[in-house]
Amino acid sequence: MDRIVVQAPSGAYNIHFGRDIWQQVQQMARGYDQALVVSDKNVAALYGHRLPFPISPLEPGEGTKSFETIAALVDDWAERGLDRYSLVIALGGGVVGDLVGLTASVYRRGIAYVQIPTTLVAQVDGGVGGKTGINTPRGKNLVGTFYQPWGVFIDPSVLSTLPDREITNGLGEVLKYGVVNDPALFEVVRGHVDAFYELDLEVVAPVIRRCVEIKGEIVAADERDRGLRRILNHGHTFGHAIEKAAGYRHNHGEAVLMGMLLEGRLAHLLGLLSSADLAAIEDALFRVKLDYSFAHLDKGEMISALIHDKKNRKGSISFILPREIGRAEEVLLSVEDVEKYWDEVIRG
Ligand SMILES: NC(=O)c1ccc[n+]([C@@H]2O[C@H](COP(=O)([O-])OP(=O)(O)OC[C@H]3O[C@@H](n4cnc5c(N)ncnc54)[C@H](O)[C@@H]3O)[C@@H](O)[C@H]2O)c1
Ligand SMILES: [Zn+2]
Repeated sequence: MDRIVVQAPSGAYNIHFGRDIWQQVQQMARGYDQALVVSDKNVAALYGHRLPFPISPLEPGEGTKSFETIAALVDDWAERGLDRYSLVIALGGGVVGDLVGLTASVYRRGIAYVQIPTTLVAQVDGGVGGKTGINTPRGKNLVGTFYQPWGVFIDPSVLSTLPDREITNGLGEVLKYGVVNDPALFEVVRGHVDAFYELDLEVVAPVIRRCVEIKGEIVAADERDRGLRRILNHGHTFGHAIEKAAGYRHNHGEAVLMGMLLEGRLAHLLGLLSSADLAAIEDALFRVKLDYSFAHLDKGEMISALIHDKKNRKGSISFILPREIGRAEEVLLSVEDVEKYWDEVIRG
């Protein structure tokens, strides 16, 4: 049995890998009086039959991460009589994971839940770490908790039904782990980007496992995002600004990939990253199926989004910039600094 233990300060739990996770979830559920699967309609149709439990299917999409859905879930769970002896199984992408995690953390002051992440994003990122959340009209993930799952179960073969655009979405986070933490991982992914679109599991499964291991170690060291965990924000300062300035036409991972390109170039312009390492990063990014054009981004809107970034500290904009492949650090820049480099950064 292949597993990783995450030693989160709030409690340790296992992350299991492989095609036999479906049996393992059933085995775990035997320790509870009842189990309920919460999924979205797409995932429920594809994989719901693999578990012999009732399913609550939700509408797919980011709009489901709302107070309204929490209220509906709480009603549903209460009607089904879910209590302290029940297990909730979140089967789906990050939307399902974030929503079920949050609801499980507040329903009856917290009940047991596990994650079965089914997108590349959720397998390497959202499913691990215990951050939960919903959106409100005033902000993405504005309401949330830290609530670690009782276990995470990852079957990479479910990625075979994922559209290419969702693979690209996940590759942003995968390449990010390489750039900030692991040069060997970076090289493997750079050399095998196609393997993700073709879903060659001999390449993809160990990469997912390594990403989870890195995230698990970082979460164990900094569960609540105060220090080390922040290095995972590489690509996200420009990335979030791109999401906002482009009116959310790029998904998160696409914006992170674009953000990594801009932040890599910024690091180089600041003398923090060698030309060779920047060239390697650009080479890896350009192998991903994504159009890296920035012509549609208005400089004023980008700057305004950066000024309002929630990661800002002491009036400065916080960037996690690579120093070399496998190592990154926080750099605080003024708005004037960013304005000064902007044209060069987008031109490349
Ligand atoms: N908690 C965290 O640490 C964390 C980290 C990253 C992202 N997130 C959150 O995750 C969300 C994004 O998650 P996502 O990218 O997984 O998107 P998602 O959950 O919306 O899934 C994307 C689409 O893929 C479909 N899908 C899922 N699995 C499938 C499969 N195996 N085959 C075919 N289709 C499948 C879904 O129905 C959906 O239409 C965002 O809300 C983001 O805030 C949270
Ligand atoms: Zn991200």
